[in-house]
Order: sequence, then C-alpha cells, then structure tokens
Amino acid sequence: LVTVGDLSDAAIAALLRRASEHADGLLASDGKTLASGAAGEGGSRLGTKPLAGRSVVLLFFEDSTRTRASFDLAAARLGAHVVNLDVDRSSVSKGESLADTLLTLDAMRPDAVVMRHRWSGAARFASRHLRAAFVNAGAGTRSHPTQALLDALTIRRVAAPRLDMTLDSDTQPFAGLRVAIVGDIRRSRVARSNIALLTRLGAELTLIGPPAFLPQRFGLLGVRVAHSLEDGLRPAPQVVYALRVQREREPTPGAPSVEAYAERFCITEAALDRWCPEALVMHPGPVNRGVDVSVEVLTGPRSLVLDQVAHGVAMRMAILESLVG
Ligand code: CP
Repeated sequence: LVTVGDLSDAAIAALLRRASEHADGLLASDGKTLASGAAGEGGSRLGTKPLAGRSVVLLFFEDSTRTRASFDLAAARLGAHVVNLDVDRSSVSKGESLADTLLTLDAMRPDAVVMRHRWSGAARFASRHLRAAFVNAGAGTRSHPTQALLDALTIRRVAAPRLDMTLDSDTQPFAGLRVAIVGDIRRSRVARSNIALLTRLGAELTLIGPPAFLPQRFGLLGVRVAHSLEDGLRPAPQVVYALRVQREREPTPGAPSVEAYAERFCITEAALDRWCPEALVMHPGPVNRGVDVSVEVLTGPRSLVLDQVAHGVAMRMAILESLVG
C-alpha cells in the first residue's frame, strides 16, 4: 500500500467495513477506549490472532507517535511478532543505504514492512525492493494513505452519526459531505492522501490556506481553493480538518509567520460559531495548540482528534490483515 490510488473502490469499502468491525471490538459504545481486558474480549469476538506466526517490521526514518504506536498495537492485537527497528541505532548510522537496509531486512523474510521516510519517493522505491508486503506510513510530503483511511473511518463512524448523516451507500458513499481542509497544504502528505480519498468517496472539498501554503494548482485536483476562513467556510462544511504548520520541513518562500498564520487561520470557537456552527473538527496530530486549532476547540466537544487516534488502530489492523492475513 503506497498510495490511496493503489486501492480499488471495493478494497477501500472492504477496509472500512473490516476496520469498523475491529473498532466495535476495541471501542466502547460511548466511543471511549476500553481497558485492555475488554479490548481482548472484543478481539475474541472477531476470532483472535489471525496473524499468529506472522512478522511485521516497523521502519521509521522520521519521528512518529500515532502511526508507529498504532501499527505496533494493531500488529500485536492480531498476534503478529513485531520488530520495531530503532533506525538511529541501526546500520543506517554507518552509511547503509535505504536500498541495502530494505534488502537486508527482506532477507529475514518478514511478512510485512511498514515504513515512514522523509523522501516522497521512498514508499514506491521500497515497495519495489521488497518481497514482503509493504505499507507506507508516511512518505515525505506526498502520501500518508493509512491516515486518510483512518480519517474516513472516523468520519463514517463518529462524525456521520453526530451530524445525522448516512455515509454508507456503495457508490459515492460520502456524497453530501462538505469538508474544509485548512493549513499548510503544500507540505502535507495528509492533505494529499485525504484529497485523493475523500473526493473519490464523493465528498466536496475546500482547501483553505495562505497562498504560500496553498498554491492555485491544487484547484486542478477538483477541489475549491480559498485563501481565507471567511471565503472557505461558506457554504458551511460539516467537517473542518485542520493541519499542522510543519516547521520541521524546508521553509516555504513567502510563508506567513506562525503568529500571522494563527491570527488568520487558527480554528477557534469564534470562527466556527460564525461560519459553520455545526461543524466537527479533525486534525491528524500532532497539534500546534493555538496555531492550527485553539485549545478550547481541541479539548471541546467538536473535536474528533482522539477519535481519529483510536480509529487508527482499528484501520491499521484491517490493513495488516488484508495484506498478510
Ligand atoms: N498523524 C500522524 O502521522 O502522526 P504521527 O507523526 O505522530 O505518526
């Protein structure tokens, strides 16, 4: 799995269905995560340990909390043996290339390799060097397909019931859903994968950000482009998806200062109340509090941020199962 484009419509539908079953097993009906014993009970309802005897290598060349921990938990809950390679203490520090690292690990015959890398082409490159199944856990600024899939799962399972929407038709299942993606879109692999998946599912997308973070060429992707919250949040979206200003990546020429960005684009209660009072708020994390989203919104009832995290485990279980089960 390198990009959302690698998946057929039927495969996406099957992943959403299976991940939803896993989420039923992992999550209480009130949406709160159950204690480990109860999660085990959910697992047993689904038939435990479908990946027993299988092995999964996690290979993270870039930092991660959510994706790495959730793949680790997902593989463990399915019964797989997980090798979580510490790249900083691997032979990469002696100059071993990406290709040689991949070939070496593949020679140990893992069933799957899950990789994150700062180079946008790394995921496709890796998939061509491995016999093992490959999962892209984030490649440069280009793609983060498992994030988009878990976001779609969260929209279907958590947002839709709260918005009183039904998003489960076979064709164009998200028809009628308006999503505004706000922030540093130019450098965001999350935005690219979400644009690909949500438009395919039939959602209407508006991208919002200052011109330096949102070049006009994004309009070619069949989405609306706006350079202010006022323009972008009308008509009102049901979901506002905020992105992190990615200060760790190469600087964007003409980008506003963090303070200037926050002044105009931070998702606050006041902005939501004014333009889209019913909207729910998502963010892939980690959040720059008070820059991407206000603390009040992040910790308030509109926020689906921890629902996204919880559904990440379920979606990654479904992905691993579909590739190596
Ligand atoms: N959303 C996401 O990819 O978060 P991490 O960088 O913590 O994995």
